[in-house]
Amino acid sequence: MDSIKWGLLSTANINRRLIPAIRASKRGQVTAVASRTQQSADAYAAQWEIPQAFGSYEAMLESDAVDAVYIGLPNHLHAEWSIKAMQNGKHVLCEKPFALSLAEVDEMTAVSRQTGMVLAEAFMYRHHPQTKLVGEWVRDGRLGDIVLVRAHFSFMLQNRGNVRLVPEWGGGCLWDVGVYPLSFAQFVMGGPPQSVWGEQWLGPSGVDESFSGQMDYGNGRHAQISSAFRLPFHTWAEVIGTKGRLTLNRPFVGLEKGRQLLFYHPDDKVEEIPVPQKELYLGEVEDMHAAILDGQPSYLTLAETRSHVQTALALYESARTGQRVFLKNR
Ligand SMILES: NC(=O)c1ccc[n+]([C@@H]2O[C@H](COP(=O)([O-])OP(=O)(O)OC[C@H]3O[C@@H](n4cnc5c(N)ncnc54)[C@H](OP(=O)(O)O)[C@@H]3O)[C@@H](O)[C@H]2O)c1
Repeated sequence: MDSIKWGLLSTANINRRLIPAIRASKRGQVTAVASRTQQSADAYAAQWEIPQAFGSYEAMLESDAVDAVYIGLPNHLHAEWSIKAMQNGKHVLCEKPFALSLAEVDEMTAVSRQTGMVLAEAFMYRHHPQTKLVGEWVRDGRLGDIVLVRAHFSFMLQNRGNVRLVPEWGGGCLWDVGVYPLSFAQFVMGGPPQSVWGEQWLGPSGVDESFSGQMDYGNGRHAQISSAFRLPFHTWAEVIGTKGRLTLNRPFVGLEKGRQLLFYHPDDKVEEIPVPQKELYLGEVEDMHAAILDGQPSYLTLAETRSHVQTALALYESARTGQRVFLKNR
C-alpha cells in the first residue's frame, strides 16, 4: 500500500477543512463519505466530488472503500465510532475533544493496540510549524525558565440549536475551544499540571459558555487558560520565561492570515520571528500517512491525548465543586 483511501464519517461542517488537506497531501485521497441518510451522503458526495457515498456509518466501515476514517461527529460519539471503525480494520483520525471520560480514552487506546490500527487526535495546530517552533524555543532554553503560559480561544455562538450547547453530548466551551489553550499549555510545560482550579459560567443551555482555568505545574510555574461562546472571535497565547516572552496572535486557527509570532527580549525590544507557511490541516493528515504507511509513531501521542482529557475533566470538576483538583496518576 502506498497511499491511503480516506472516508469521512459524517457530513460534518469541519470536513471542509480536511478534504482540501487530504487532496493536497501526496499519499491520500478522499474516496468515500458516510451519512445517516443516503440522500445526504449522495448530495455531499456530489458537492465535493467524492466517488462513493454510504447511507450509514456502518456500511462505510464494512466496505473496502476506505483504509482510514476521519471522525468529525459530535463529541459524545467520538469514542463509540472510533472503536467501531478500528474493529472494522480502519485507521482513525478523531476530532478533539478525543473523548469525554478517561474510561473512553483507555478503551479506544486498548482497541488500537489490539487491532493494530493507528488512532490519533485531530489537533491540527500541534502539527503546524509555528507550534513546533515555539516548542523548539522552549526546549532550547531561549526563553529561560518558563514561568507562565496564558492562552485564550473564544467565538460568538449564535445558533442556539448547535450541538455544542447540549450538555449530555459533551457540549461546553472548554470541551469545544478551551481544549486548544489547555493542550497548548501542556505542550509548552511538557506535561499535565499537578493541580487545577476552574471557574465556569453556565448559560441557559446548561453548558459552560465561558470558562477560565488556572493550572499549577509546580515550582512556581502556572498556566492560565480561557474560552467562551459569548465573546467575539479571538485566539491568543503568550509564553513568558525568565529570558523573554513569545506572543502568538493566532495560535490555533487561520494561522496564515495576519499571523505574528513576536519575541519580546528582557528589555522589551520586539522581534518578529518568521514562521514557514503550511496549510493548517495538512500536518495531521501527513502524520497519519507516516504512521500507517511508514510505521512511524504518531507525533501527538495517545498519552498526551489522555492527559488533555484528564486535565479538562479536572477543570470541570473544580468548577463544579469550587475546590482545587489534584491530578492523580499523571
Ligand atoms: N479541528 C477543528 O478545527 C475543528 C473545528 C470545528 C469542529 N471540530 C470538531 O469536529 C466535530 C464536529 O464539529 P462540526 O462543527 O463540524 O459538527 P457538525 O457540523 O454539527 O457535524 C456533525 C455531524 O455529525 C453527524 N451526526 C451524527 N449524529 C448526530 C446527532 N445526533 N446530531 C447531530 N449531528 C450528528 C451529522 O452528520 P450526518 O448527518 O452526515 O450523519 C453531522 O453533520 C466536533 O467534535 C468538534 O469539536 C474541530
